[in-house]
Amino acid sequence: MNFRTIIEPFRIKSVEAVKFTRRGERDAALKAAGYNIFRLHSEDVLIDLLSDSGTGAMSAAQWGALMQGDESYAGSRSFYRFESVVRDLTGFKHIIPTHQGRAAERILFHTILHPGQIVPNNNHFDTTRANIEVEEAEALDLVIPEGRVPAVVHPFKGNVDLGALETLLAAKGDRVPLVMVTVTNNSGGGQPVSLENLRGVRAICNEHRKPLFLDACRFAENAYFIKVRESGQGHRTPKAIAGEMFSLADGCTMSAKKDGLANIGGFLAMNDDQWAEKARNLLILTEGFPTYGGLAGYDLEAIARGLEEVVEEPYLRYRIRSIEYLAEKLIAAGVPIIQPAGGHAIYLDARALLPQIAPLEYPGIALVNALYVEAGVRGVEIGTVMFGRHPDGSETPATMDLVRLAVPRRVYTQSHIDYVAEAVIAVAAMKDSLHGYRILTAPRVLRHFTATFDPLGA
Ligand code: F0G
Repeated sequence: MNFRTIIEPFRIKSVEAVKFTRRGERDAALKAAGYNIFRLHSEDVLIDLLSDSGTGAMSAAQWGALMQGDESYAGSRSFYRFESVVRDLTGFKHIIPTHQGRAAERILFHTILHPGQIVPNNNHFDTTRANIEVEEAEALDLVIPEGRVPAVVHPFKGNVDLGALETLLAAKGDRVPLVMVTVTNNSGGGQPVSLENLRGVRAICNEHRKPLFLDACRFAENAYFIKVRESGQGHRTPKAIAGEMFSLADGCTMSAKKDGLANIGGFLAMNDDQWAEKARNLLILTEGFPTYGGLAGYDLEAIARGLEEVVEEPYLRYRIRSIEYLAEKLIAAGVPIIQPAGGHAIYLDARALLPQIAPLEYPGIALVNALYVEAGVRGVEIGTVMFGRHPDGSETPATMDLVRLAVPRRVYTQSHIDYVAEAVIAVAAMKDSLHGYRILTAPRVLRHFTATFDPLGA
């Protein structure tokens, strides 16, 4: 018999209590945090959907693997286990561990980029963009037009606009040192990229002799979407599909805090010997010796095991379905979200929900803050606060004003998600009473993490 209910493919062995707070307490906590949910104490959050990064639950096998960690400074056994798992998955020649994804980005871009160069991507994530801009290069987003419109349904909304990429390389190819593709496309709604599109990008890169790097943080979720959505892929394992994705690239940056199922870690991988040598030299300067790269031996063990578990089909089926389940409830209630559901998160369309709040008064912040105060649920703005400020100091509305509810891996159960749906629907119903914000203080780069705000018209 085939039952329709998709269940969590695990039993729970260890639990962590969550703290219930009253609305007044949350109001006070948010005010004390300068109306920026990044500044809250996590204890004051009931259901934390701020990020899926490093927030997942490790398996018993991963916890067991921690005890196997070899903490030798050089040549650690744990490094060779990690290296062999990553190489088996990706096929890349050089595997360089880093403490997290942005360290891999920093090392890659600092060693190869020059001022005035351009790095295209479907959509750069915030740290990727910042690590390019700090080298005085340009981070260019070339996602397909469908990927910029929340309500448009498309199976591979993370695809790269191949025409735009071809035009860029034909006109300014001498300024482009590499092409990137983010799988899944986090800033664009956790949307997947098809194999067909990756093959198209590869062909254009071949024609213009450009290396292609994946930002592979969520490669397994992307591979599962390919399996279920792309014709001719249904019979393949997620691991085989992921292998083909990597085989189309020359390297990748990776945050093991996402599809590594680990709480910390990442890597930079590539085939080019010269780039790898430069990267390792900088790694030694800033992260550590090339067989640990800023990680403990036990972290390398946890990541190695996590990379094996993340491509298991029951896990990915449950993972993708649990996000879709939340999306279905919100869509049925008429809450505007990016459709279809992403792989790791739901993205509420704050601009559509709150038309009375101008983008430069940050509708995403208004919605995030209301969700926290009303329900203790913490999401995150992915919009004008995150992307609206430019290196020259000017500010314009971001393409979209979204609120991301990112679901940690293997952490919350179906009733937690039911609660989140109820909370979002309740807050959406009070949309007319929400107001915008202005920024009180903010640093020059990555301002969303630490800015403080003042409510307008409260
Ligand atoms: N690339 C993408 C697509 C990401 O989503 C992230 C992190 C990074 C790179 C950087 O990795 O955090 O290990 O340094 N995204 C997290 C998020 C922070 O909440 O989406 P990192």
